Amino acid sequence: MKRLSGLKKIRTAVFISGTGSNLENLIKFSLKKKSPICIKFIVSDNKAKGLFFARKYKIKSKIFNFMNEDKVEYKILDSLKKNKINLICLAGFMKILSKDFIKLFDGKIMNIHPSLLPKYKGLNTHQRAIKNREKYSGCTVHFVNSKLDSGRIILQKKVRIYKKESPESLAKKILKQEHLLYPRAIKKIFPNL
Ligand code: GRF
Repeated sequence: MKRLSGLKKIRTAVFISGTGSNLENLIKFSLKKKSPICIKFIVSDNKAKGLFFARKYKIKSKIFNFMNEDKVEYKILDSLKKNKINLICLAGFMKILSKDFIKLFDGKIMNIHPSLLPKYKGLNTHQRAIKNREKYSGCTVHFVNSKLDSGRIILQKKVRIYKKESPESLAKKILKQEHLLYPRAIKKIFPNL
């Protein structure tokens, strides 16, 4: 897809495992004239709810079976190559990619995590933040490196944790901010597109 500026948008794949609210948000963002990305492929590791958005917006998608871990990344790489993908956005993707895979896409894989990294890497971030009586949590968009939730941080957004906050209410509040943050982070890394 070309824009008025003549510059081509970056062919992007989004990897999901669940509901796909970040996926839909990124698709909507990608359809804006000023967005630097176009979403050309969606990867899922299961029959995720979010695949609905692939159908809705007519974007190619594929489910990859991670039971066969040795071969699955080759298959994903093959699909990414066929679809000329240059950027990967992880959006609620629950599988861990190998070091070799990450190396091949060095600096071209982004992730969104529902905590203020480096705090609360991994799962159950909201429960842990509340249990530790944190006053704030939030979300982080970062590059993916070989260590879990540890790559260079691109942007973060803080969210207040109130006294009677439940993991569910916090998750909801943070998800809203995720939807604002991911597009902003993408614009930040491609300022001239
Ligand atoms: C988000 O909170 C994301 O940060 C986390 O998983 C959730 C995915 O939500 N990694 P959705 O599938 O985008 O709705």
